[in-house]
Amino acid sequence: MLHFHLISPLTTINQGLIEVYQSDYGILYQGDCLKFLNALPDGCVDIIFADPPFNLGKDYGKGVNDQMKSDEYLAWSKQWLSESIRVLKPGGSLFVFNLPKWCIEYGAYLNQKGMLFRHWIACRMPKAFPRGQRMSPAHYGLLYYTKGDPAVFNKVYTPIQVCRHCGGEIRDYGGHRKKLNPKGINLMDTWDAPEDVWEDASTGDNAEETLWTELEEMWSDIPPVRHRQHKNRGANELAPIMLERIIAMASNPGQIVIDPFGGSGTTFYAAEKLHRYWLGTEIGDTQPAVKRLTDLANGKIEEWESARGKKKVKIPQNDSTQLDLFSY
Ligand SMILES: C[S@@+](CC[C@H](N)C(=O)[O-])C[C@H]1O[C@@H](n2cnc3c(N)ncnc32)[C@H](O)[C@@H]1O
Repeated sequence: MLHFHLISPLTTINQGLIEVYQSDYGILYQGDCLKFLNALPDGCVDIIFADPPFNLGKDYGKGVNDQMKSDEYLAWSKQWLSESIRVLKPGGSLFVFNLPKWCIEYGAYLNQKGMLFRHWIACRMPKAFPRGQRMSPAHYGLLYYTKGDPAVFNKVYTPIQVCRHCGGEIRDYGGHRKKLNPKGINLMDTWDAPEDVWEDASTGDNAEETLWTELEEMWSDIPPVRHRQHKNRGANELAPIMLERIIAMASNPGQIVIDPFGGSGTTFYAAEKLHRYWLGTEIGDTQPAVKRLTDLANGKIEEWESARGKKKVKIPQNDSTQLDLFSY
């Protein structure tokens, strides 16, 4: 049974939110993001992840206009951003994924509303397309703000980048490569217990030695948009590893994550896997998300694709212990 109920059944009806899935950890509604956010009490959630339509004219189905005038799009965005701030607990984290063009406007608004800027994470696009008189876009922005000082910031281990052709490591980690904590490498690819992939960044016996493992603000190992062969639906869908990383970094098990633009349910899938409570809504078709969550409940874990390909990497000489961690 679900252990928390942030939105009363009466409010759900009044706001026109329809419950379409429920598990021990969360509830998915079908309905509008603003109605969903409005229904939540002040200061009740630990993380918000928002991946709104980018206003690029995509077809998300009935009820979604993805081609608004810029000022309309921004006015709408400010409504859900402002509500997001309201429902966040003090110290809670807000992540917003969008094009740099919109992130810069969102950032200005969030600064003005007193939110604390943490990072503009650049999520590298594996492919860049020529754009006439402009440079080729090479990243999406992932804004990371907190409501005051962060209540939770866990150190997340990230994979060492390797060359997809020869398998050799791309960087030398400023000469600190030998100090790598073998436990830390590539666990995001292979772990099964959530506590294996993060630790409290403020503790640790030897902070200097593990410093190199800290997540950087350029994420080039995650495909920002899933490849067709892995998708659960036709429209946009993020890779689960991206949400798993965010949730592992900014929350602890038992805390509450929400996503007002649920799509195929990537956030809810990751939250379930990492034992966080979650709530979310999607205005359009919720079937892909429901199927995905039902599959997970039946034990189906998704393989996630990597922008780096599946090539096995070179094992450093005399270090066979790292085989499993380095290959995926
Ligand atoms: C970029 S997609 C999110 C994809 C999602 N992160 C995933 O991994 O599947 C944006 C989603 O927001 C939904 N959406 C658009 N306007 C909405 C609104 N007013 N309220 C709730 N959902 C909305 C769209 O139908 C679409 O599924």
